Amino acid sequence: MKNFFSLLCMFCMLSIGTSKAQVANYEVVPLPKSINQVSAAGFVLTESAAVVFPEGNVDMERNARFLSDYVNEMTQMRLGTQSMPAKAKAAKVGEGNILLTLDDKIQNDEGYTISVTAKGVVISGKTPAAVFLGIQTLRKSLPVMQEKAQGVTLPAVNIVDEPRFAYRGMMLDCGRHFFSLDFVKEYIDLIALHGMNRFHWHLTEDQGWRVEIKKYPRLTEVGAWRSSTTIGRNSGVEDGVRHGGFYTQEECREIVKYAADRYITVIPEIDMPGHMMSALASYPELGCTGGPYEVAHTWGIFPDVLCPGKEVTFQFVEDVLAELVTIFPSEYIHIGGDESPRTRWADCPLCQQRIKSEGLVAKEGQKNEDLLQGYFTRRIEKFLHEKGKKLIGWDELLNCGVDQTSTIMSWRGAEPGAQAAKLGHDVIMTPYTYMYLDYYQTEDTRHEPLSIGGNLPVETVYSFEPIAGELTNNEAKHILGVQANLWTEYIAYPHHAEYMVLPRMAALAEVQWLQPDKKNYDAFINRLKRLKEIYDLHHWTVAQHVFR
Ligand code: ACM
Ligand code: ZN
Repeated sequence: MKNFFSLLCMFCMLSIGTSKAQVANYEVVPLPKSINQVSAAGFVLTESAAVVFPEGNVDMERNARFLSDYVNEMTQMRLGTQSMPAKAKAAKVGEGNILLTLDDKIQNDEGYTISVTAKGVVISGKTPAAVFLGIQTLRKSLPVMQEKAQGVTLPAVNIVDEPRFAYRGMMLDCGRHFFSLDFVKEYIDLIALHGMNRFHWHLTEDQGWRVEIKKYPRLTEVGAWRSSTTIGRNSGVEDGVRHGGFYTQEECREIVKYAADRYITVIPEIDMPGHMMSALASYPELGCTGGPYEVAHTWGIFPDVLCPGKEVTFQFVEDVLAELVTIFPSEYIHIGGDESPRTRWADCPLCQQRIKSEGLVAKEGQKNEDLLQGYFTRRIEKFLHEKGKKLIGWDELLNCGVDQTSTIMSWRGAEPGAQAAKLGHDVIMTPYTYMYLDYYQTEDTRHEPLSIGGNLPVETVYSFEPIAGELTNNEAKHILGVQANLWTEYIAYPHHAEYMVLPRMAALAEVQWLQPDKKNYDAFINRLKRLKEIYDLHHWTVAQHVFR
């Protein structure tokens, strides 16, 4: 018996040593454009390999450290990093290393190639950002090893890859519920893992103002806190628990840097003129009635919004944006613009006076107040231009007369996006029917955490085609990309947020990255099973529906 067990143990050890789990698989999520596996000996990656980067290039040096960390996380092997003088490049190829290089002959700014031969690995990218995307692919190709690998075989291959869309985003609503800086960083890690490059940070809501503005301290003293939260879907019963929090400007800068290190742009959103109860509670003079107002406890759309009849409102918004642009280097500033009722404006003498003085006369089927949001938005658009920024906002802006430099986020379906593209606006597609990850992910909701509603399974996210409608080629070029949104009325904790985005975010990644003829849902699910091993490695909470 003893002999039998020792034989068994030896067999186990041998099978760990030689198991097929130690071979890399390049069919990752999102699937690279072309994977040309050649029938030649591959490269055996061991700890004797170094990650080599061009001397003096800090971005590439950081890339090298990331790759070393990823290899460590997957295989428990620790690779050193090494700089290489430009002249030494040819010599370094084939010395058993992973070489990171730049190649300006590649067309796409995010295009990269990975070449594996028996002698080593070369990741070449048009830019350091492109090399980072190649690193993500190599990272996801590696097997997850519970014990330190003695070596991982990388089959010989030529991978040529580039994304379909330049804008690949995820939004997180930190207004309805506050999420810690650590979780925001984790969300950015997820964005990087999925080959995305934009983090849309929804920073203000009726239920909470989350960004420090030095000129208006009450926004975070008062506006960042609500005294209670409604239970369930506006049940009329409150939990009586104070909720809130905010990010200091220093912390926002930390997030900007954390994201930039991963080639991710943070686009901050200050939603206006609606969804502003937290600001009104802090500075009641900004509303039509003058208040008093309270930071909202319940969910929905509130009639009290900013008063565009008052100059103090514009002073406030411009001051806020002036501070914001010093924190966020993004080309775009998101000003929301969704769901802003006109009821208070109709009854407000100052708003009515503004309508008169600006000659805002509605056409048939509209009220004069409907034109006030356009007046408000165009002033803000002009201000942002003076600050060297572009405006981006929800598709309500199509009724605001913004100019073609402003970008439209199409959320009420894909049709407003198609219409905006025809008008010459750039467009980000984020229709709620495909891209609202706060929706349920199954019809059988009995065992799901409470959600806002809807039914958006992984397969539906996967099926989204952003260039729909009858767009000419030139119009289609205005569709810059796709984004999914996580609204957080019913999502208060990181593990719940993870559950809602994983694995639907992986389906989004293929919508953003793959040409339509390369998409295949069944094959995607197979690839996803391996990506899930990385989710599990990080102990992220993952919805299981497609894995059952
Ligand atoms: C939105 O969902 N109100 C943009
Ligand atoms: Zn007013």
